[in-house]
Amino acid sequence: MEEKLTIVVVGASRGIGKEIVNRLASNSSYTILALSRNLDRMENNFSSFKNVKCFSFDLSKNDVREQASHIFNSFKSIDILINNAGKLINKPFVELTSSDLSECYQVNAIGVMQTVQAALPKMEQAHIVNISTIGGFQGSVKFPGLTAYSTSKAAVVSFTELFAEEYKDTAIKMNCLCLGAAQTEMLEEAFPGYEAPISAMKMAEYIVDFALNADQWMNGKIIPLSLSTP
Ligand SMILES: NC(=O)c1ccc[n+]([C@@H]2O[C@H](COP(=O)([O-])OP(=O)(O)OC[C@H]3O[C@@H](n4cnc5c(N)ncnc54)[C@H](OP(=O)(O)O)[C@@H]3O)[C@@H](O)[C@H]2O)c1
Repeated sequence: MEEKLTIVVVGASRGIGKEIVNRLASNSSYTILALSRNLDRMENNFSSFKNVKCFSFDLSKNDVREQASHIFNSFKSIDILINNAGKLINKPFVELTSSDLSECYQVNAIGVMQTVQAALPKMEQAHIVNISTIGGFQGSVKFPGLTAYSTSKAAVVSFTELFAEEYKDTAIKMNCLCLGAAQTEMLEEAFPGYEAPISAMKMAEYIVDFALNADQWMNGKIIPLSLSTP
């Protein structure tokens, strides 16, 4: 018999998150909670799946923990949480405003931590997967203009190691994938005309398999998932 799992995907309205939900939803024994700001878009995307529940959720607000708790309270347990949402600002360093910096940090780092805080009361044995970027991975290839984005994503890398240490005696595991370029609206908006070597669907295939299985082998690990060198 298939294992019944409740899986939360944050940032599910488009791009990689949408493909993660599409892939998970084909298994009817999974219940998927799809979260992002654009509720209409998610309801439209996933209307053919009975096992996908869509919720409006905004990581940029200062009540993320309360928003998330409110959603999670209707569910008995959470087995997998994929923190996939992201905000990218591509701007020369000297032009970054205070709100550019704080918005990126709120959505990409603080909001992720607050979502995890809200999920913990529902977790016994669970895998949390944080989606960062190869630009947030030490020693990797870097891109000018991505200071706000990549440093906030680097904070999630550090959070992954710190959380895993603090929860190492529990059955809650956290790992982080640092993605290289995948063809999505985010990439097209930030770097018009750039062609990524991987589709959103292909990236989602790896992430879903990782989220379902990798906690058997690793905890607190930061994995670069990229075809670029270094
Ligand atoms: N594509 C790449 O090349 C690439 C490379 C490295 C890392 N990544 C990372 O991979 C993840 C997915 O990227 P993607 O390319 O699929 O991006 P995308 O197409 O822009 O999708 C991002 C998702 O995050 C959601 N989101 C954005 N701001 C939010 C907020 N304030 N509250 C809640 N949800 C929010 C968006 O939904 P709403 O707008 O409906 O809220 C959307 O569903 C991101 O974390 C990104 O940083 C992507």
